[in-house]
Amino acid sequence: MNILEIRNLSVSVEEKMVLKNISLTIPEGETHVLFGPNGSGKSSLMLTLMGFPQYKVVSGEILFKGKDITHLPTSERAKMGIGIAFQSPPAIKGLKLGGLVQELAGRFFPDFSLKEESEKLIMENYLHRDVNHGFSGGERKRSEILQISAQNPDLVLLDEPESGVDIENMKTIGEAIRSILHRGAKEKRTKSAFIITHTGYILDYLAADWGYVLVDGQIQCENNPYELLKLIEEKGFQLCEVCELAKHKE
Ligand SMILES: Nc1ncnc2c1ncn2[C@@H]1O[C@H](COP(=O)(O)OP(=O)(O)OP(=O)(O)O)[C@@H](O)[C@H]1O
Ligand SMILES: [Mg+2]
Repeated sequence: MNILEIRNLSVSVEEKMVLKNISLTIPEGETHVLFGPNGSGKSSLMLTLMGFPQYKVVSGEILFKGKDITHLPTSERAKMGIGIAFQSPPAIKGLKLGGLVQELAGRFFPDFSLKEESEKLIMENYLHRDVNHGFSGGERKRSEILQISAQNPDLVLLDEPESGVDIENMKTIGEAIRSILHRGAKEKRTKSAFIITHTGYILDYLAADWGYVLVDGQIQCENNPYELLKLIEEKGFQLCEVCELAKHKE
């Protein structure tokens, strides 16, 4: 089964077309990666998948587990099993992180151990604080992953999970994401992911299956994500116009 299918999706925000005719498919259990320069529309794609109302679907459709979710509200998508860790997670005053995570676990993942998971992410001393309020950049990223871990979504959307994270914390976050995705032996993979990365550090912790390069709201090429990353590092995003890797998945 395909966990996600995007068909000819075009999206506008504030009257501006940010995504143009995007099509891609993520089979269940696979991790796909989205590369692209600043402002190319990567976060817009994630927020459209999550159903944020500013992002208007002009044409095309989004299927999750085979069901058309193009016009469903965000809460329905979350209930169906889509979770997101934001690029810039908001602070929520008056809501304790521990309370939020416990509420999520109660709804989505009864076997979740708050003590164990928060210790894994070095967040045990933050549970009594308001969500992300006064958290450093790296702490916000760990807080996001803790929330995702309790929500236990079938499709995890990660928008630059490593941005602003130091090398030691990268290991903590990378291992936590790997464990959320159950990325052990291939046959045990049950969760799927769609990950935005600039640096590719996160790819050291996951066996990513496929990658795309988004430029100016369009998918310019797709291929093995590790090959794409190598090429982007060598040649920058200009490669997209002439890239010999710009073939499509068979
Ligand atoms: N809510 C919004 N209102 C106005 N413009 C927006 C909004 N969301 C996105 N845009 C615009 O759409 C374009 C794509 O933005 P987006 O955040 O998707 O880029 P990105 O690829 O995630 O970039 P980065 O790598 O810097 O995170 C930008 O020009 C941005 O200013
Ligand atoms: Mg972004």
